[in-house]
Amino acid sequence: MLDNRLTLSESQINYYRENGFVQVDNIISAEELAELREYLGEVMGVEGGNSVQTSKKGNAYFNVLNQRVNTWRDHGGMARFVLSRRFADAARQLTGADGIRLFHDHALFKMPQDSKPTPWHQDWPYWPMNESGAMSIWIALDDVDENNGCMMFVPKSQKIKNLKHVDLVEPHDIFSDEGASGMDRNQAVIVRMKAGSCTFHDGLTFHYAHANQTDNPRRALAIIYMPDGTTFSGASHTCTDGLNLVKDQPIRGGLFPKLA
Ligand code: SIN
Ligand code: NI
Repeated sequence: MLDNRLTLSESQINYYRENGFVQVDNIISAEELAELREYLGEVMGVEGGNSVQTSKKGNAYFNVLNQRVNTWRDHGGMARFVLSRRFADAARQLTGADGIRLFHDHALFKMPQDSKPTPWHQDWPYWPMNESGAMSIWIALDDVDENNGCMMFVPKSQKIKNLKHVDLVEPHDIFSDEGASGMDRNQAVIVRMKAGSCTFHDGLTFHYAHANQTDNPRRALAIIYMPDGTTFSGASHTCTDGLNLVKDQPIRGGLFPKLA
């Protein structure tokens, strides 16, 4: 089922290209949502696999995000979603790229109790890529609003390049960065969504997620896609360290499959 293509409307595509993000409701069905919740619950507890838990209970990062990277490498059910044509083809339509490759997935849980917001940041500065264009789908597994960690985006901020990455635990204020002038957090769009809906955002779009003030985890699955041909910058990253990728050559191969 997840192999079916979804034809996005011209207005969704135009909105994404103009503003750097777009909301797409009901990207998965109620049955698929139930399945994905089950798989995510299973894979979050894996030990000694190929996915990487990048935060541990008790450390400061965990209060921002309880995060596991590359769940698809440990769980066939997660792989069905992460490698699915439906999401990757939507990314292809939005970006206009000829082909789309997987960079990585990550489960993003915002845990209850002492939850911290995900500070304003761009994603692209974390990635070892020379070109911009990579982007994420962020699928809500719970209904989200300001009380449990919904996202906000600053429209048109995807045009801002060359900023330093923001440390998610000890953030600096991205709006004070030289090069971010004209960007205004008061213009941010708050995206409240039902579980099973999603947003796509460009790797350069400024975004933020509220702290989770409820008693339940806020569960999300994000998948990062890059235009086929995106080249490796040589910078260090959990998903590329140790792979002997060649600087300035395309990121490709079986760990970064072409999906659309
Ligand atoms: C979050 O899920 O809280 C943040 C996601 C992101 O930064 O892309
Ligand atoms: Ni982000």
